[in-house]
Amino acid sequence: MDKFIIEGNTPLKGNITVSGSKNAALPLMAAALLGNTPSVLENIPRLNDIYTFNNVLRVTGTVVDFNEGGNQLTINPSNLSFPESPYDLVRKMRASFYMLGALLAHSGYAKVSLPGGCAWGPRPVNLHLEGLKALGAEITMDKGYVIAKAPNGRLPGGNFKLEPSSVGATVNILLAAVKAQGVSVIRNAAREPDVVLLCQALNSMGARIKGLGTSELTIEGVSELQGTTFRNAPDRIEAGTFMIAAAMHPESDLTIDNIDPSDLGHFRQTFDQIGVTTTYSDNAVRVQPPEKLNAVSIKAEIYPGFPTDLQAQWATMLTQAHGEATVTDHIYYDRFSYVPELGRLGANAVLHENTVTIKGKTPLQGASVMSTDLRASVSLVMAGMVAEGTTEVLRVYHLDRGYENLEKKLNAAGALISRVSE
Ligand code: UD1
Repeated sequence: MDKFIIEGNTPLKGNITVSGSKNAALPLMAAALLGNTPSVLENIPRLNDIYTFNNVLRVTGTVVDFNEGGNQLTINPSNLSFPESPYDLVRKMRASFYMLGALLAHSGYAKVSLPGGCAWGPRPVNLHLEGLKALGAEITMDKGYVIAKAPNGRLPGGNFKLEPSSVGATVNILLAAVKAQGVSVIRNAAREPDVVLLCQALNSMGARIKGLGTSELTIEGVSELQGTTFRNAPDRIEAGTFMIAAAMHPESDLTIDNIDPSDLGHFRQTFDQIGVTTTYSDNAVRVQPPEKLNAVSIKAEIYPGFPTDLQAQWATMLTQAHGEATVTDHIYYDRFSYVPELGRLGANAVLHENTVTIKGKTPLQGASVMSTDLRASVSLVMAGMVAEGTTEVLRVYHLDRGYENLEKKLNAAGALISRVSE
């Protein structure tokens, strides 16, 4: 297992390029199973979660060819003959559960392991299952597996209201609905850019989805879809991570390239409130921090609200802001494993229920820290980059799941991070 050793107090300068989105790529990969011909997906990041999903696809008989140098994935489902996803792979990555909707649409049958627990508490899949049932799927449980069947091979289609709105359930229901016999309606559907992109990709394959970007999606089922050539979006969470990281050191001056500013939602305005100067172009943003950061409270909510995937980074930035502010997570109440670790670095952070209160500015001192989740891990790296002395971040395999070449990108912008085997 690798760890990072970070020499602190380094501003970020120059340019840094954002990779393709992990969370948007995974639904596109599942969608590729529904074409009669191969699909080519561009701007796919080289990440462990992508490698895991490649293997999930391969188990079914799908041929997957990842041109890693070109970040291009070719997925050929012509020989898909085994519509199952085993526990060994699904437990590594919850998004493998997208196979349920995709295989159901492809084969009229799917046997997919339940994902199990997660580093930040319970993450249920009840809405995925209820949604598929509303479309006409027959669902049974067998020794930790979900077995879903479409009567007569194709789902009839139906209506479902998500409560709460869920990205994953919207994806699964969409994948199943596009090849149903009738019309389906998803109410209170997730509006995240990742869902919009999936709808665009499916429509480019011949699907008939209306209401893109709204909370009501209407899907007229079709009997056949074709493969597509489709470009994945930049990773909006990686973009936000680098923006916040740049803000944390007063001497930073960082331009973040290959972003889509329209995907940032309310984060963009909230970020400006901390006092940074941001200069946007069509696909980049330059971040110049002020001498003193303002302490700005946030609540993580569904899109376009502040993303839960950026709340740990924001809380970490608040240790360097002047004053007291809070971070509340309304999506995942337990996603605060980073708080005691920040405390070890010298932060004044107090957790109460789903709110952490941070008083800044506190000088951070290097120490050994670790986390068991992706966004918490990157936050500890960010803290290490402004701390005095040396910080060790253990178990960085979580970072390799979701950030492509993280230390190389940051080092090219002035960070001093080395990767060593623990
Ligand atoms: C996705 C993202 C994750 C992000 C999250 C919220 C991927 C691979 N992961 O996760 O990075 O943090 O969106 O933006 O894209 N819920 C239920 N029942 C369900 C499903 C969800 O109650 O069946 C609840 C969850 O507990 C949570 C809320 O719905 O409180 C939203 O979760 P959801 O949008 O489903 O998150 P994921 O799709 O798992």
